[in-house]
Amino acid sequence: MPTESELDAITIDQLRAVPSEKWSLFPGLIGAFVAEMDFGTAPAVRRALHDAVDTGMLGYLPGPTVARMQEAYTGFAKRRFGWSVDPERVRPVPDVLAAFEATVRHLTPEGSPVILPTPAYMPFAPLLRDLGRDVLTVPLVREAGRSVHDLDALDAAFAAGGRLLVLVNPHNPTGRVFERGELAAVAAVVEKHGGRVFADEIHAPLVYAGRAHVPYASVSAATAAHTVTATSASKAWNVPGLKAAQLVLTDDDAADVWQRRCIWTEHLTATPGVLASIAAYDDGEDWLDDVIGYLDGNRRIMADHLAEHLPAVGHTPPEGTYLAWLDLTSYGLDRPAAWLREHAGIALTDGRHCGQAGRGHVRLTLATPRPILREILTRLTEALA
Ligand SMILES: Cc1ncc(COP(=O)(O)O)c(C=O)c1O
Repeated sequence: MPTESELDAITIDQLRAVPSEKWSLFPGLIGAFVAEMDFGTAPAVRRALHDAVDTGMLGYLPGPTVARMQEAYTGFAKRRFGWSVDPERVRPVPDVLAAFEATVRHLTPEGSPVILPTPAYMPFAPLLRDLGRDVLTVPLVREAGRSVHDLDALDAAFAAGGRLLVLVNPHNPTGRVFERGELAAVAAVVEKHGGRVFADEIHAPLVYAGRAHVPYASVSAATAAHTVTATSASKAWNVPGLKAAQLVLTDDDAADVWQRRCIWTEHLTATPGVLASIAAYDDGEDWLDDVIGYLDGNRRIMADHLAEHLPAVGHTPPEGTYLAWLDLTSYGLDRPAAWLREHAGIALTDGRHCGQAGRGHVRLTLATPRPILREILTRLTEALA
């Protein structure tokens, strides 16, 4: 399992040598934009991938491997979240975005608008527009220092014709982990309008002590019956390039439609990715817990540094995910990420890509060795001074 000193010792030169998108897209800059970790992956995942190569398990995804994935995911969901899922209802998909696209295409009325709370994970809005869908953005609102769903605005968006709500939990980019009561309140609005929810729970395993991930579909019989849940080992075990995620179909109608119309989406799923997912869910929890412990330290370093040196930066430490969401609106920068690339040599995600509600903000990936995080914070402080 990785120790703190092992993770601290990973250098920028080593990371650039791999290379990754994080460390190659902006040569010479510190990459902290894309949601990837600088820590490699769990030993169990590495072993599974080596075994796949050694035994030639590189063909199309076989049924028995799907069955192992279903057992592995449902075991993990039970242990980690106390969520009991019928293994048959866990389907392989290549990634969460493909699952989202198939959900919009096949499980919502043709041409119906989609409700997107903002700030939102960047690709959702452009993808919906590519699919010919209007996007009804509903900004999250601040309550007691935390971002929460605006229930009245959600109600109005359903009343305006929205049929599907995109519910990301833990939330990217704010890092919120929504509580059971909050989810139940959202569910009441969805039920009132006979709507459906796409629950994007890709960050579900990445929740800090003191918080608990509650799968939206587990809240009640009603949420189970109006939800399609997408999740993946890709964020928590840092394997997004392996193209394997899971769709959990607790809704009988959705399961039926999926079976009849979405089988080609399953066909895109990569066999090595599914093998890696099995290893992650079955044997990767110790590694994950060590990494979460390290990330927890990183989020504290970030919060302490900002409080001491950059009090004008608005920041609430994430409750889950390894993303920090920084409110730089008081600096009056039109494009803060571009400005920080030029003046601080760090590459962050500009909040405007998360919708109007994200303007003036940046998203920063905390999953980096602490010496690199400290360098990021020093550069941020010097540039903003
Ligand atoms: C909330 C959220 N959804 C979806 C994705 C994309 O997932 P995938 O690579 O499985 O499409 C990400 C990636 O960071 C994400 O943060």
